[in-house]
Amino acid sequence: MRYIGNKTRLLHFIRRVLRARAIAPGRALDPFSGTASVARALKRWKFSVEASDNMQYGYVFAHAYVEVISPPSFAGLHDVTGRAGMRAALRFLNALPPEPGFIHDHYTPAGARGAEHGRMYFTPENAARIDAIRVQIEEWLKGGLISRDEHITLLAALIEASDRVANTTGVYAAFVKSWQPNARRTLLMRAAPRHVTGNGCHARRTDALDAVTSAGEFDLLYLDPPYNARQYAGYYHIPEIIARGWFDGDVATRGKTGLIDDEDMRSDWSSSRRAEAAFEKLVESARCRHIMMSYNAEGLIPEKTIERVLKSFGRRETYYRHRHGYRRYRSDADSSTRRYRGDVVDEYLYCVSR
Ligand SMILES: C[S@@+](CC[C@H](N)C(=O)[O-])C[C@H]1O[C@@H](n2cnc3c(N)ncnc32)[C@H](O)[C@@H]1O
Repeated sequence: MRYIGNKTRLLHFIRRVLRARAIAPGRALDPFSGTASVARALKRWKFSVEASDNMQYGYVFAHAYVEVISPPSFAGLHDVTGRAGMRAALRFLNALPPEPGFIHDHYTPAGARGAEHGRMYFTPENAARIDAIRVQIEEWLKGGLISRDEHITLLAALIEASDRVANTTGVYAAFVKSWQPNARRTLLMRAAPRHVTGNGCHARRTDALDAVTSAGEFDLLYLDPPYNARQYAGYYHIPEIIARGWFDGDVATRGKTGLIDDEDMRSDWSSSRRAEAAFEKLVESARCRHIMMSYNAEGLIPEKTIERVLKSFGRRETYYRHRHGYRRYRSDADSSTRRYRGDVVDEYLYCVSR
């Protein structure tokens, strides 16, 4: 999914650094797991991973792509979809008639609340498809036809499918005021990415500090915190709503972009006043052998602080900043007409060992 800080394109760099530092597989924590791209790769590289994020959609990705031990069979859907398996479930969901509901009402110009603010996040038809699918997935879970793993796997597929047709330039902090080509396409759920086998991996929705302090002793702490003042809660509120559902009473949305109450999702790491203290406290609390932190050269925490804090955690001579230059795309809209205007940014991995 299009996501600020998604490390999919940097996995080879992370792997290269793990090898260069002779960090062997063991128990790893990824407490800012986002799309779970790194946690999933660590699982593939034979780590047992605890992946967490303070957003519910982050938990959904971590559970679907990291915690799940084997590809769900969807055996309970046999009588509904005609055969077992994820593909049959997706075919059924993709064919559901659109049914206007919460997303249609709040995030399209055809819904009462959406119209009030001129919100154009999805075409009315795609929004009504999201609504119909989200409700169906919930009913299957409540009716005992799918397991928790199956439910989470379908939710992850729905969040990713919705993102592909969202009328945004990559984040939900704003919508585009005319329909983009990707938004006009019909929403289509796709099969989950190839399953990665591995045991002993867990997902949680929790604050990074809680994830680290409650973990006890472990081998590798991989940190990939937000590096600027953009709060993920405000940039990805719609994936968050889809992840949580809207079944226990109405959810209030406000303003032009339809934000939800984000009190419990705001992050100290996106605050220029609080990021340094949050970093220091997290590192002090960690009981692990290695720390690797992805951070951007333009980040809120000054490099001097990173160096001081990491050196006080581990052996000074093991501290090292690994650098990787890569092309950043300013315009990441998923459209056939998109123009890439790239420039090179430096991405760093700061490492230290005990
Ligand atoms: C740079 S992104 C991580 C990207 C991830 N490595 C990937 O490849 O998709 C930072 C993540 O930290 C999460 N986050 C921000 N503050 C947090 C906190 N205090 N505790 C846990 N997660 C937090 C955000 O929701 C976001 O998903």
